[in-house]
Amino acid sequence: MAKKTWKVAVVGCGSFANGQYFPNIDKEADAVCVAAADVVFERAEAACRRYGIPAAYHDVHELLASCDFDIAIDAASIQAHHEINMAVLSAGKHLISQKPAAPDVERLTLQIETAKANGARFVCAPIHPMRYDLNLARRWMADGAIGNVYYAKCNMSHGGPEYFQYRDADPSWFFEPGAGALVDMGVHGLQIVTALFGPARRVGCMAKITTPRRTVRSGAFDGKEIRADRIPDQYLITLDFGDGRMALVDSGFSQKASKALQLEIFGDRGTIAFTRPYMQNPVPEVYLDSPELGIRGWMEPMPGADPPEKLRSQCCCLRDLIESIEGDRPPRLSPEHARHVLEIMCAIPAAAEEGRVVDLKTTFENRL
Ligand SMILES: NC(=O)c1ccc[n+]([C@@H]2O[C@H](COP(=O)([O-])OP(=O)(O)OC[C@H]3O[C@@H](n4cnc5c(N)ncnc54)[C@H](O)[C@@H]3O)[C@@H](O)[C@H]2O)c1
Repeated sequence: MAKKTWKVAVVGCGSFANGQYFPNIDKEADAVCVAAADVVFERAEAACRRYGIPAAYHDVHELLASCDFDIAIDAASIQAHHEINMAVLSAGKHLISQKPAAPDVERLTLQIETAKANGARFVCAPIHPMRYDLNLARRWMADGAIGNVYYAKCNMSHGGPEYFQYRDADPSWFFEPGAGALVDMGVHGLQIVTALFGPARRVGCMAKITTPRRTVRSGAFDGKEIRADRIPDQYLITLDFGDGRMALVDSGFSQKASKALQLEIFGDRGTIAFTRPYMQNPVPEVYLDSPELGIRGWMEPMPGADPPEKLRSQCCCLRDLIESIEGDRPPRLSPEHARHVLEIMCAIPAAAEEGRVVDLKTTFENRL
């Protein structure tokens, strides 16, 4: 029997969709992009012209009413995700959602239940649990390579979407309620440390607004002034995982440049250090301390006999979704993991404003 070619529709045709999704849909899977939708219709039309996509739509509702497709990718601005996701899942279509998929745990739970009720598979970005370097490190941790692992330190910042990225679309929405540095950047660090250690039990946080007015530095809105005084743009997040494990996530839109490593993992017999950009599929560096063998020092390990699959693009989430459907197995980018990260993000304002540590309730299965 001929293998199915999956029909994909992209909702939200901005920077990320153009940079990562449209050019890679047919490279990552047996898939073809059949539609582009955007509330700024010219963006959907422009994507169609640029990538040879047959149909443009004004929004997700018109897309659902008029187009024959299997999978939607929600790459719209953050505030729009819940409405788009509910529409897609209620129609029984499979879904990849950019982060965060919903504004709170209750609404993400509703999405998860709607997907189940309608036989739809649901995958949530970011893609860190698919990373080659992270999965090598997870295996080494599980095998005891650095002994008892107790601490992960993650730096996840840039200077702001108006600062370091060339953009055709107005980046003001990143600083409006519902968006902000925590849900746009912090989410990466939180997904990474929970992929390492599993569900966290408690969260604490300090947060500040460092730059209350910003100026767009390039692109179509170059020079535009943005009000950025409503949501913190620098977070120091501490997480307690129980069993003697903890993590620090330093994240925000307030670090124009940094030479800090994105991630280090510490154990009582060594350290795993992520010294190079993860899209290059690097092998992390490892420091080993073995008094028995008389070895103490940094090394660059070989990948091993059965290394994890390498990353090609951020569109690898499409491969995860399709493999999950075809193999009838849970996806690696599970919505339950996204919901746990969302619970942490929703607890952070109270932790920061009231200066307290907040208990967490949700869990997820942390599959290697
Ligand atoms: N590495 C990453 O994982 C990464 C990086 C950048 C952005 N993102 C995520 O990707 C998403 C989009 O970010 P971006 O940088 O492309 O922003 P963007 O502003 O460039 O694009 C967003 C697009 O969504 C459209 N849109 C808004 N509401 C809509 C709706 N209701 N229906 C259809 N389209 C709608 C806008 O018109 C715009 O074209 C966000 O969720 C963001 O957090 C992820």
